[in-house]
Parts: sequence; C-alpha cells; structure tokens
Amino acid sequence: MCGIVGYIGRGDVKDELLSGLKELEYRGYDSAGIALMEQNHVTSFKATGKLKNLEQKAKEYAQDGGIGIGHTRWATHGKPTELNAHPHYGTYSYVVHNGIIENYVELKKELEAQGVKFVSQTDTEVIVHLFEKNLEKLGTGDKAFEATIAALEGAYAVLLLSKDVPETVYFARFGSPLMLGRNGKQEIFFASSDAAILGKATEVAYLEENCIGKVENGTIITDFEKGCSDLEYKALRGDKVSAQKGGFRFFMEKEIYEQGDVLSDTLMGRVFENRVHIDELEDMDLEGISAITICACGTSYHAALSSSYLFEHVAKIKTDVVIASEFRYKEPILTPDTLFVVISQSGETADTLEALKMAKNAGLQTLAVCNVDNSSIVRLCDSTILTRAGIEKGVASTKAFATQMAVLWMCALFFARKNGVACDMDAELKALRHLPKVTAEALRHHEKIKRLSKRYLHGHGFFFIGRDLFYPLAMEGALKLKEISYLHAEGYPAGEMKHGPIALADSELFTVALMPKSQLYEKMKSNVEELSARDATILTIAPEILDNIADDFLVIDEHGHVMSEYFEMMVVLQLLSMEVAIRLGNDVDMPRNLAKSVTVE
Ligand code: M6R
Repeated sequence: MCGIVGYIGRGDVKDELLSGLKELEYRGYDSAGIALMEQNHVTSFKATGKLKNLEQKAKEYAQDGGIGIGHTRWATHGKPTELNAHPHYGTYSYVVHNGIIENYVELKKELEAQGVKFVSQTDTEVIVHLFEKNLEKLGTGDKAFEATIAALEGAYAVLLLSKDVPETVYFARFGSPLMLGRNGKQEIFFASSDAAILGKATEVAYLEENCIGKVENGTIITDFEKGCSDLEYKALRGDKVSAQKGGFRFFMEKEIYEQGDVLSDTLMGRVFENRVHIDELEDMDLEGISAITICACGTSYHAALSSSYLFEHVAKIKTDVVIASEFRYKEPILTPDTLFVVISQSGETADTLEALKMAKNAGLQTLAVCNVDNSSIVRLCDSTILTRAGIEKGVASTKAFATQMAVLWMCALFFARKNGVACDMDAELKALRHLPKVTAEALRHHEKIKRLSKRYLHGHGFFFIGRDLFYPLAMEGALKLKEISYLHAEGYPAGEMKHGPIALADSELFTVALMPKSQLYEKMKSNVEELSARDATILTIAPEILDNIADDFLVIDEHGHVMSEYFEMMVVLQLLSMEVAIRLGNDVDMPRNLAKSVTVE
C-alpha cells in the first residue's frame, strides 16, 4: 500500500527514483510523484494513474547527482488526483509518506488557525506544513523534524527534504516499513520494500520501529533523541530478473506457472522419508499447547480456514480462525495453551500485525507463516516459517497462497506426529512430495479454460461452491474472480445454498462446483443437481464429465489424496479468474482500487 523510495548519490537521480518506483508500482498505482534536490533547488513532478504518466511528464528532465524522493500512491485520504499525489509540499519542503496519520484532522485545524493553506485532502500534507512551522520556531532542521514526528500519531514511514536544509533527507519509521540500502559506489537508497533496491544496493538495513535519522552530505546520521540505533546491514540477495514477467502476459500468469517450482523450494529440507521436519517449530516450546488460533486477511485468511480442517482432521488439534480486522475488536479470550498463528504474504498487513501485537501482549506464543523475511510481522513473531514463494507482484495472490497451504499442511503433519495422532503418514508425505508435480500438471487445463472463459463474462453473479476444505477454496476462487474481473462472486458451502441463495438461481447465475472424488462427492452431486434443476449455468471441476447436471466440465485427475485434488483445483480457479479478467480487458496485475499490501487498518 503506497511505495516510497529515496536516492542520494552521483547517478541519474530521476532514473534511480523511477526505476525504484517501477518495482513498487504494484503496491499502489493511483498516482505517483518525485522531488529532486540539487543543492538548494528542488524540482517536483506528479501524475495521476500509472507510473508511465509520470515518466512522460518528467521525460525532459535530467539531473546527475543529488537527492531525490519518490512515491507511488494507493489512496486512503482523498481521491486519486494530482493534488493528492505525493510528494506534498509546503513553501520550501517536500514529503513522501506511507501509512496513515491518525490525528491529521486536529493538526490540520491547528495549522489552518496559524494561516496555513492546504491544497490536498490528504493526511500527509500536515507533515510538511508542520515541519516548516517547527523550522521557523526551532531554527534547525533536526529539531524541526524531531518535533514534527513527535506530533504525529498513527503508523507511517516518511522521507522529507527541504530547500532550507540543503543536501539532507530526513527519514522516520513508525509502524510502516522503511529500509536503507547502500553499495560501494557512495550511493544510498531508501525504500519501503527491498524489491525497489534489488540490483542497486548490495547491503540493506531494515530500520527498527519508532526511529528517525537523516542523510546529510552522503553521511547517515542517527544521533537523534529517537535515533535509529546502530543500523545492522545485511547482504541484499535476489536478482531483478526473477521479478520480471519473463514472456508471460501478466505477473499473475507467471506466478501461477511458477507454482510447481516454488512449491519445491517450500518443501526443500522439510519433508523426509517418514516425517516432516520444521526447524522453526522444533525450536518452540509447544508442550503446553492444546489449541491453535489463526489470524489473517484476504487470501491468507482462506489459507488459514483451509488449514483449520487439516489441523483438526489430521492433527486433532482444536483450531479457530479469525479475520484479523475483526479479532482485536471482539475482545478475544486468549489463553496460554493456544499457539497464535498469523499468515501473511507481505508480512506488513496492518490488521494482521495489530492482531499479532494483541496476542503477544497477552503472552501467547506466536508463529508467522510469511513470505517476506524481515517484514514487520516476521520481526515481531517468536518464530516464522518462511513460505519461499519469491517476490509476488500480481495483486491477486496465487503462488503465495500455494506455498502457505504447503507450509500449513506440513505444520498439521508436524503436530500429528508430535501429539502421537494416528494418521497415514506415508500417504500424507507421498502426496506432499507430489505437490510440485500436481500443480505443474494442472496447467494443462489452461487452453480449455481460455476457451471456456468467454461463456462466463456476463451473468448476474457467480457462486463458487464446495464442502469441507473445498469451501474455503471456493471462497478463494470467488475472491480471485472478484478482485480482477470486478464481477460479483461468492464462495459458499454447497450444502447451504438451499437455505437461501438458491433463490438467485436461473440461467444467468454461474455456479462453479468443486467436486473432489475423495470427499463428500455424492453430496456435492446432489447440491449441484438442485441448482441444475433451477436452470443455473454450471461448471463442474470434478474427476468425470457430469453432462446430465452441468453445462461445462473441467476434468481433474483422480489423485487418491484430497490435497492433490485441492491443489489441482486451486490452479484451475486461478486460471479461470485470470482468463475471465483478461477477456474483460482488465489490468490483471493492478486491478482497480486495490494494492498489494494493505498497511492501513
Ligand atoms: O500480505 P497479506 O497476505 O497479509 O495480505 C492479505 C490480503 O490483503 C491479500 O491476501 C489480498 O486479499 C490479496 N489481494 C488476495 O489476492
């Protein structure tokens, strides 16, 4: 949600900022902007919409060496207009900001009473005016920045530069990620995600929570009252090429196709002849644990729900799942016999992070299943199992979900063994090892789905139905379709349709039925028949052609293991939503109104 970058060095400042923003564009693409400073002269450009509009606007400008800050926006306060785009400016200072200033209304009133005129509807603009007022009062940039940050409430990361404080960028991290990169070429980079500095910086320092500092004349200075303590640099690994589209039409498509490979990475060193071994769980003291609570949002929530069936079926451990944004307001009863698990691709989702903080404060042991090392959630949790999906750029999560499910399945097997629960471990492990193959082979459905998709564009809605752990998978199928096609879709328990939603059934109601052979197959058939009798248009995903009850069929393999069926259907649903969205002409990777990581509540 929003991306920020900064650059200090002798290179082409504009190009450095734009290339960094390009890598973060998937986090927000309502507008973008940059400010470049050379001694005490600042030039700024802003444009609404995608980054290419900003590139076009700034194309004549060149600046070798100096300082720059940039931003790509996902609107929280105020419409996606140019005035609301960052950098926000006062009379001589410029700021970019990621997060939310919760007390901006009061601050704005105070500043307006002092004669400040606001031009935007954002919360961010207060920062820059407050800084200038403080500078007038306190006389130095350092004091002004400290006082400004001290007045802000909320969660945010900020970069600020001012003509009155030449050759300087101020930075602050309070609840939103910010990192500082460097290389041997006297260049310093700022970014809200390391994707923006891969291939540029060789080392990165992830700033700790609640700290401020500045870079002045190329030197990083942190001796403020709330200064970031010694920055700990780590080698920055990963290459840019792996984050490019590699011949696919969209990142989402590439990421669907990568799932076989990333699943192999996820399993590596964790699945053995007769058991799973997960270091991160072995290192925890799980003796008194008799229940699990899982918190997550969106797709990660669907992984959580699916896994709760595995934890209860396979490991016989009581498992509750709560949507993270609901958790903290429900006054949950937290007991120390509960392992608190959070699932997050980004590791930065504000709702999940807040739920995690509550669980930590209550003294629970906490475990993250996360894709981004060093993210806020990873740093806060007692232990983390990394999903190893690699950078996921499509806003619609695919490979991250696949790897979350693989990790959670392994966790269920870990608890089954630990608690001495009888299960057919050989069969489980065999199926687990087959996952990469099953997922890769599921791509064979792609051509048929491309053709089928043209029949599923203009109904009055979709129901994705399933039972047991195929119910959360149905919810995930519906979410995928909604977010990139903008068609209304619901994931529903198949047995529940007759209690109300079947009233919607007619030939314009599209139903996608998830029908695994290994689970409740006959019951699913009855539910599909009920819809078929009301003339609903039905696509079955099943191991056979059911031409007496459905209109279209995607025939999956009879794997003999429920999880193999789950993963094959997962790929089918991802491809279906993508092909429908492509036919509707939508930008699959950057769907309207969304952002890759949601760092506001
Ligand atoms: O990074 P997280 O897994 O915590 O993100 C949670 C949701 O925002 C995310 O899954 C969202 O629903 C995706 N766009 C789904 O495709």
